[in-house]
Amino acid sequence: STPRFVKIVECGVRDGLQNEPNTVSVETKLELLERLANAGLRAIESGAMVSKKAVPQMATTAEVLRGLKPHTGVAYPVLVPNVKGLENLLQLLKSIKEGDGGREAVDEIAIFTAASDSFNKANTNKSVADSLIELEKVTQLALDYKLRVRGYVSTVITCPFEGKVRPKRVKEVGKALLDMGCYEVSLGDTVGTGTSETVTALMDEVAIALPMNKIAVHNHDTYGMAVANVLTALKYGVRTVDSSVAGLGGCPFSPGATGNAATEDLVHALHGAGYETGVDLRKLVATGEWISEVLGRRNESRAGRGWSAR
Ligand code: HMG
Ligand code: MG
Repeated sequence: STPRFVKIVECGVRDGLQNEPNTVSVETKLELLERLANAGLRAIESGAMVSKKAVPQMATTAEVLRGLKPHTGVAYPVLVPNVKGLENLLQLLKSIKEGDGGREAVDEIAIFTAASDSFNKANTNKSVADSLIELEKVTQLALDYKLRVRGYVSTVITCPFEGKVRPKRVKEVGKALLDMGCYEVSLGDTVGTGTSETVTALMDEVAIALPMNKIAVHNHDTYGMAVANVLTALKYGVRTVDSSVAGLGGCPFSPGATGNAATEDLVHALHGAGYETGVDLRKLVATGEWISEVLGRRNESRAGRGWSAR
């Protein structure tokens, strides 16, 4: 891809819906996946093989993957927290008929850990060091099955429980994920506290040790800085950005954190700056309006509201 292309990883169906108070039907998730693919998104997280006690909204991931309508060239990564989650996923995919549902469409998983122990324990009941041991097993097994593995580091700016996080720690955890075989590492500002100053300090540190073409950013928009922080990261060569349509989402284990950068806001900013994304903003805006109405929430994308009022 050309240097002016930014790849968007759409997290609305996973990060976006994992925090919804009311159960979202499988039909709604499938329609959202379909609309996002039709809007030109080429990487769309489809769910998570996690404990339904921990995250009830992801309990229907198996049904979603059975019903998924594959699109050529669209990846549908699934979050996997441990070996058990990967085994469940592999078994599920095997039980789907060839050429059907997510059987071939899911060729990628996303694993996750953090730069702070307190958050990681709240999220997965493990210290960061222990989670890296588990995730190395997950990655090895996934690679054996020809699945690509994407890694997440959460709490890269602040931890909801420990406060400020050192950039050096983020770099170390990110390196561990790349070394174990992740093709890319996404840096999660889980709480959304980053500003141009703290993101610059983080990127300065990360760019010393890690190849920036393997780094993505995942900014929650709690304080309204998500898109601004993406623009800072782009200066360091980052060309993959995570976001959620209509600004859906939040992490159930990060109290008070709101959704990701809204995909509409991101696309509006990127196209305005001369980047290509392959996304049809008009279709995306309509999708954001539709899902907000279905969920009975305000559309959290300012660009989405602006464009749909024109
Ligand atoms: P645990 O209780 O430590 O697990 O949970 P365990 O191994 O002790 O097992 C306990 C029970 O869970 C057992 O069942 C296991 O079989 C079952 P029981 O014998 O009691 O009936 N179990 C599972 N069930 C389904 N799927 C599995 C699985 N593993 C064990 N994979 C665990 C550990 C990781 C499972 C749990 O803490 C969990 O599911 N956490 C999910 C956390 C999560 O999904 N968080 C949100 C996603 S991450 C995020 O949002 C951040 C991100 O967006 C980036 C950012 O914004 O920074 C990515
Ligand atoms: Mg997130």
